[in-house]
Amino acid sequence: MTRAISKQLMQWVVWLGALVPIIAGFSSATLTTAGKAPLVPALFIFGDSLADPGNNNHLISLAKSNHPPYGRQFDTHMATGRFTNGRTAVDFLAEELGLPLVPPFLDSSTKGQKLLQGVNYASAGSGILNSTGMFFGEIITTWKQLEYFRDSTQPEIYKLLGKKAGEDFFRKSIFYLISGSNDFVNGYYFLIPTTPHGISIQDLMQLLISTVSSQLKVLYDLGVRKVGVAGLAPLGCCPSQITKYNLTAGNCVEFLNDVSEKYNDALKNMLLQLREELEDFHLVYSNLYDPLMEAINNPAMYGFNFTHAACCGVGKLNGKFICIPYSRPCDDPQHHIFFDYYHPTSRMYDLIFRKVYFNGPPFSIPYSGQFLVNLTI
Ligand SMILES: *[C@@H]1O[C@H](CO)[C@@H](O)[C@H](O)[C@H]1NC(C)=O
Ligand SMILES: *[C@@H]1O[C@H](CO)[C@@H](O)[C@H](O)[C@H]1NC(C)=O
Ligand SMILES: *[C@@H]1O[C@H](CO)[C@@H](O)[C@H](O)[C@H]1NC(C)=O
Repeated sequence: MTRAISKQLMQWVVWLGALVPIIAGFSSATLTTAGKAPLVPALFIFGDSLADPGNNNHLISLAKSNHPPYGRQFDTHMATGRFTNGRTAVDFLAEELGLPLVPPFLDSSTKGQKLLQGVNYASAGSGILNSTGMFFGEIITTWKQLEYFRDSTQPEIYKLLGKKAGEDFFRKSIFYLISGSNDFVNGYYFLIPTTPHGISIQDLMQLLISTVSSQLKVLYDLGVRKVGVAGLAPLGCCPSQITKYNLTAGNCVEFLNDVSEKYNDALKNMLLQLREELEDFHLVYSNLYDPLMEAINNPAMYGFNFTHAACCGVGKLNGKFICIPYSRPCDDPQHHIFFDYYHPTSRMYDLIFRKVYFNGPPFSIPYSGQFLVNLTI
């Protein structure tokens, strides 16, 4: 190599050395690994096992799924604590928003700059009420999840961004709440016969709706403005409930589906009312009921063969118990609606996400998830 060339080369090395930190700094702040600028600053998630990305791994709890064969079709092919074979609906949402998969709050690496793309507080077994899910052992109740956000994450983000930029960050970020199933199937109806709490199902619904309303007001007071709230899936079609109530495949537990629909109607009304009440509160209802029902009623249209039997579990329809460590799952989870006795497969989650995100009423009310994301505020 001649001296001139090697000098030239050295100059390039010096140049590159100076450029790399600039490029790296730029890309980590504004671009994701996919090279797409995020559509919103961050995504924050509160809820139960439908969204838990591994918070319960850190708790002493029966509600855990950080063992194979959970996660077999996940990006890493490893169990993460998600209750499905791959990604959950909020993972698909994060991807669509151009954000990384949202990390669990309890993971020790969820701190510093990482908080600036969002945090997931969801905990399997939890419900809207503090009393729900206690028999699972440790869980993070929804109220506790909100406290973690208010007392830990939000102050840290304000420290990183300062007051003005911080306020803008929270106003523009997407918040998502997905809870309620456990308040019914692992709460009120955990034991049969059916009125164990001395309150009527109507009173329970009212209590749940007013509690969600209070929880949303807490977020509003903390400067949150864009929130999606999931309704209930058809609870009576879960393999666990079909098995529990001694039905055969092809049937759903009608009274539980009625409960889901009544609750969803009440939730929709409350959200519309709260939108009127609180200025600039952009609340959107996500309908999980119809996409699941459509798939159950028209399986061939979606390429499903198994509408009621879970891919992995114990007993009839795999509906008696969780998918236990190292048990043999079905070979074709993509043909199943349910992965285990309560939770959809990743493929079903993807379908639900697409229906709710890209469509307006009745899948998303008053407008699509995408509209909420693109709303300039
Ligand atoms: C629920 O728990 C929180 C603590 O996380 C507490 O502040 C709140 O008062 C409780 N709510 C009810 C209705 O007991
Ligand atoms: C289902 O069947 C089992 C055993 O046959 C019985 O013990 C149980 O009470 C039945 N449950 C319902 C909800 O009918
Ligand atoms: C599952 O359904 C698809 C079409 O929806 C069909 O091509 C396939 O043969 C079915 N597989 C089984 C195992 O029934």
